[in-house]
Amino acid sequence: MPERSESRRPVRVLFVCLGNICRSPLAEGLFRHLVEAEGLAEHFEIDSAGTGAWHVGERPDARMCRTASRRGLDITGQRARRIRPEDLHRFDHVLVMDRHNRADVLALASDPSLAARVRLFREFDPEPGDLQVPDPYTGGREGFEHVYEIAERTSRALLEHLRALHHLEAQPAER
Ligand code: 4NP
Repeated sequence: MPERSESRRPVRVLFVCLGNICRSPLAEGLFRHLVEAEGLAEHFEIDSAGTGAWHVGERPDARMCRTASRRGLDITGQRARRIRPEDLHRFDHVLVMDRHNRADVLALASDPSLAARVRLFREFDPEPGDLQVPDPYTGGREGFEHVYEIAERTSRALLEHLRALHHLEAQPAER
């Protein structure tokens, strides 16, 4: 008999970019919002991190926060942190934004079997392009809008994938 879904440990998902102030905090916020809206919150542990340490402790970039808030998503409560080697043991799914991030994350893996946990986020994008989420940091507002569109549809597709993979069922809403 399959284990009842509510007795299982959460599925742990980590989003990773370079600074942890633009792309990965947005993906974290969007994915968490979808998970909560679908009644799946208790099945997930969700976090994000950067491969670089420049912005540790900072809130997400103000331009990313504004792009999100224009769509009703508040990501201002997040604080940047740097990825640690232990994260590759803790998180079941490590979604990186570009190939540089992937190389940097894989360099932290002590055990080659951990590499299977690391995937490009846009592998799940129905319109995958070059499979990378472009870094918006040095560009203009349209770059942040573009990242939002990519991350929104990719988060949806990722959730459907993980829901099927882990046989997750929504909890009935409380009355
Ligand atoms: P992120 O964007 O990786 O999406 O958070 C960046 C943030 C900061 C820098 C580069 C990219 N930086 O060079 O400080």
